[in-house]
Amino acid sequence: MKKRKLKIKNILILFIIVVIIIFTLLILFSKNNNRLKNIGYSNLEIKELEKLSKNELNIIYKYDYNSNLVYIITSENYNKDKLDLYLDYTLKNSDIDYLKIFNLINHESFKKDNIDKYITYLKKFDNIDGIIKYVNEYENKNINLDSTTLSFINEEYFIVDYLDRYLNYYENHKDLSYKEIVTRINSNLDYEFYTDSTKSDLTKEMYTLVNKYNYLEKDFVPDNLVSVTGIYARDKAQLVDAAYDNFVKMADAARENNLTIKVTTGYRSYNFQSTLYNNYVKADGVKNADTYSARPGYSEHQLGYSADLTNAKNVSFDDFENTDEYKWLKDNAHKYGFIMRYPKDKEYITGYIFESWHYRYVGVEIATYIYENDITYEEYYAYFLR
Ligand code: DAL
Ligand code: ZN
Repeated sequence: MKKRKLKIKNILILFIIVVIIIFTLLILFSKNNNRLKNIGYSNLEIKELEKLSKNELNIIYKYDYNSNLVYIITSENYNKDKLDLYLDYTLKNSDIDYLKIFNLINHESFKKDNIDKYITYLKKFDNIDGIIKYVNEYENKNINLDSTTLSFINEEYFIVDYLDRYLNYYENHKDLSYKEIVTRINSNLDYEFYTDSTKSDLTKEMYTLVNKYNYLEKDFVPDNLVSVTGIYARDKAQLVDAAYDNFVKMADAARENNLTIKVTTGYRSYNFQSTLYNNYVKADGVKNADTYSARPGYSEHQLGYSADLTNAKNVSFDDFENTDEYKWLKDNAHKYGFIMRYPKDKEYITGYIFESWHYRYVGVEIATYIYENDITYEEYYAYFLR
């Protein structure tokens, strides 16, 4: 009898506890519900908002009714840590599409301190990426901002010092993409080959650019030239030591794949290049010669970091493209710091026809970047090394 009484008592206590819990929850729930209702949210909206955490709801209570809130919190890019910003700025700027503000705040380069500046430009322009880049990097540059300028700023390899040149070129080439114009101007194509040229900047040492705009003086001879001989050369050649060491590594790796890579010429003196070029001109005319041979002083070979390659059969340059050695180099040279210097489809940038046999040493990091991003050394140099 006593036992039974105890059991009933226990059940009763448990029941009361459950009732209290349910009650408390109900009160809490209806309190939220009321608060959201009082702000102006509809029952449908409240159903969504109630899925949020207490923290998030506390933020929402701080603000007036926001008709975009449900879209924001149900978007796959919703970030609860930015809820305060979304609410604050979509409400303060109801004249701007909330999605623009939402995307702005979510942007990977978004900086909270700059938000008011972004918003000012967002009222005038649509290009969120361009606006963010402009405010973050170039606002102090005294730029006359319009949508064309913003489009250039937004380009990956945009160089602010070249803005006027981009805009001038754009005036006469409206059919080209902004990306293409940036590529061309960064490679100097608004200037004339050999006419608008300057001395190569030798302070860049192993990264020195030599092309139809940048030349080496007649008496320039690189330091640290070493001989390339034996299995590494067709006859005998010379390279600067860093290029040589890495060429040997590359040729050894190729040999493990039963491939033979040999240097035909590496370093070429100014005088040697002069004879070579003049012979081509005699045989083929200036116009043709210029497409495959550098004028004296303008050859990268004079720098000592370039090598023309062949294989065990000593195939001609024209046939090198069809060899297994070329196929291997194409996807492996960068691992040893070499780039194919005059690639296919980039003739208009480099000024030379595709040379499957000509490789330039620039170190593994740069070579890998150039390989992965499919750009020329002209473009890389302009943006990263100039
Ligand atoms: N063939 C390359 C462009 C040179 O003459 O340097
Ligand atoms: Zn060459």
